[in-house]
Amino acid sequence: MPHDFLDNMFGLGGQVAVVIGGTGVLGGSLAVGLAQAGATVVVAGRDFDRGQECCRVILDLGGKAEYLPVDATERASVESLLGATLAEFGQVDMLINCAGVNSAEPYFEISDETFERVLATNLVATHLGCQIFGRHMSVQAGGGSILNIGSVSADVPLSRVFAYSASKAAVVNLTRNVARELAKNNVRVNVLCPGFFPAEQNRKVLTVERVEAILAHTPQARFGDPHELVGAALLLLSRAAGSFITGAELYVDGGFTAMSI
Ligand SMILES: NC(=O)c1ccc[n+]([C@@H]2O[C@H](COP(=O)([O-])OP(=O)(O)OC[C@H]3O[C@@H](n4cnc5c(N)ncnc54)[C@H](O)[C@@H]3O)[C@@H](O)[C@H]2O)c1
Repeated sequence: MPHDFLDNMFGLGGQVAVVIGGTGVLGGSLAVGLAQAGATVVVAGRDFDRGQECCRVILDLGGKAEYLPVDATERASVESLLGATLAEFGQVDMLINCAGVNSAEPYFEISDETFERVLATNLVATHLGCQIFGRHMSVQAGGGSILNIGSVSADVPLSRVFAYSASKAAVVNLTRNVARELAKNNVRVNVLCPGFFPAEQNRKVLTVERVEAILAHTPQARFGDPHELVGAALLLLSRAAGSFITGAELYVDGGFTAMSI
């Protein structure tokens, strides 16, 4: 039996991945996972220290990584990120749109500013990443692969997180539509929908009562660990294993969305 079967299937050697929001808990874990699978990783975000920290982890593991700054909500900034990546590495084969913010309040208390900030970071930024990187991937030999990050709240709205749930539902819809549009250009676009993984953006949202409710509604009765997203991301991003997967929505949620009563 050939020993390189898994590497041929899921390996990312010789490819360059950009992880926007690689400065965060889930994005950082995905960045490390892609690097372990052989990709050169651009850890992109607006938190220099966290970006450097993530790169250090990758370099210590023998991988290749560099931090590049980006404000994911600003077109010019995302265009600069693409330009800087190409200048540094000459190619970009994969993009993960993993920047995100959350906000929890009763419906009548949501300010316009909050609603717009959540939509700008979760939805508009995902669109900018898809459009700007997708355009480049559409004309390069070999195409490319984009992974957006949804949420279980894209499927079942979560109380108190109105703007967040709406933004994630829109991310799933946008993913399918862009996947349809870019398929002819050899660019695949998929969305990974995590369940509950304690991180910065949901620290305030996870109150004691809410944690109890979440765990009671999760068949596996626990939170996810960020490294548990890596396998699913590799499946969707990899050229061989994921070659016929586009427009797909993959839930990694301990059964949360499978549960009724
Ligand atoms: N943690 C969970 O349980 C969970 C569940 C479902 C979906 N998600 C999604 O996963 C993604 C990552 O979230 P996380 O949980 O790792 O949170 P996190 O707060 O640890 O990471 C989010 C990152 O996005 C960055 N960011 C925010 N606005 C940005 C901007 N304008 N430009 C560049 N970077 C920006 C932040 O600096 C941070 O590093 C988000 O889209 C989130 O909605 C998380």
